[in-house]
Amino acid sequence: MIKRSIIAGCGSYLPERVVTNEELSKEVDTDDEWIVARTGIRQRYIAADGQQTSDLALAAAERALEHAGIPASDVDLLVLATTTPDQTFPATATKVQHRLGMTNGAAFDLQAVCSGFVYGLAVADNFIRAGQAKTVMLIGAETFSRILDWEDRTTCVLFGDGAGAVVLRAAENGEDAEQAGETGHNRGRGVLSTHIHSDGATNDLLYVDGGPSSTQTVGHVRMNGREVFRHAVTNLASIVDETLEANGLAADDIDWLVPHQANKRILDSTARKLGLPAEKIVVTVERHANTSAASIPLALDEAVKDGRIKTGDLVLLEAMGGGLTWGAGLVRW
Ligand code: UT7
Repeated sequence: MIKRSIIAGCGSYLPERVVTNEELSKEVDTDDEWIVARTGIRQRYIAADGQQTSDLALAAAERALEHAGIPASDVDLLVLATTTPDQTFPATATKVQHRLGMTNGAAFDLQAVCSGFVYGLAVADNFIRAGQAKTVMLIGAETFSRILDWEDRTTCVLFGDGAGAVVLRAAENGEDAEQAGETGHNRGRGVLSTHIHSDGATNDLLYVDGGPSSTQTVGHVRMNGREVFRHAVTNLASIVDETLEANGLAADDIDWLVPHQANKRILDSTARKLGLPAEKIVVTVERHANTSAASIPLALDEAVKDGRIKTGDLVLLEAMGGGLTWGAGLVRW
């Protein structure tokens, strides 16, 4: 019997306000041409004054529940991946839990910056495999605009706000695999494997220069872009290889790559290394910019709702972020 988690539904939310490169170039010394050429980003969504991470997360979670056809009362674990919580504590997840109407189980925040969603997928999947949760709401939500230094053109043009969510549920005794008459560990629908890594020796490449215990301020994002780029290309190639190898698969078997959306050049490089054609990569970075933990579930939701990702498709998710942290998940949709 194979116990596994199936993604039962997804949802996402973007704030109303769109800020184009053109608009940004009136505030900081930059231009559309530089931003598009170096990153592929054309615009980003920015949360309204007073709109908090919990508001974005709640909207995405409600849409995911509706898509899954599952009531909030069924959810017994809520994991919210975020770097921009409403407050230092309580966990933003508990606020979303309450507003969603989830009364069972537990809710907590997870901090792995841009890798938050793949880390959350690993946590959710392992809770389900261990039998400690049956229905997990996994959300990636950020108001990254609140921790940007709007005078630092090397970072402020790169990020945006948004939220995405998926509902995972336990497949009773590997029901899907059995129904399909399949037995191998990489057969049937659901999360096939997750892989996460971190290397604290690279803390100083991407960080926030504040925090409750250090400066008692929230701080701003600081990044050595060139070095992060270099690590991203290497680490993402290795995590993809690790994932394929663990499942006995080749790059050719992948139907969709849904990467963390940091920079179009990083996406292109990963695709090139894999030999994947551009049509198999879900790209949203030009419209969403880098929404950190929200970027994968936002892209995933878009590709599911517009009919690109279909039941049975093999979907590879991968990300890298501050820490450095990186990881991947392979899902049979
Ligand atoms: O999600 C977490 C993971 N994060 C990432 O993956 C980000 C990875 N890094 C990157 O995406 C790229 O390194 C950046 C997009 C951040 C920067 O691109 P780059 O090609 O590495 O540029 P650079 O940092 O080497 O800067 C090149 C030039 C510099 O000018 P000089 O020193 O050559 O005269 C910068 O000052 O571009 C200048 N520059 C800008 N010019 C116009 C930097 N930011 C801007 C800007 N507008 N916004």
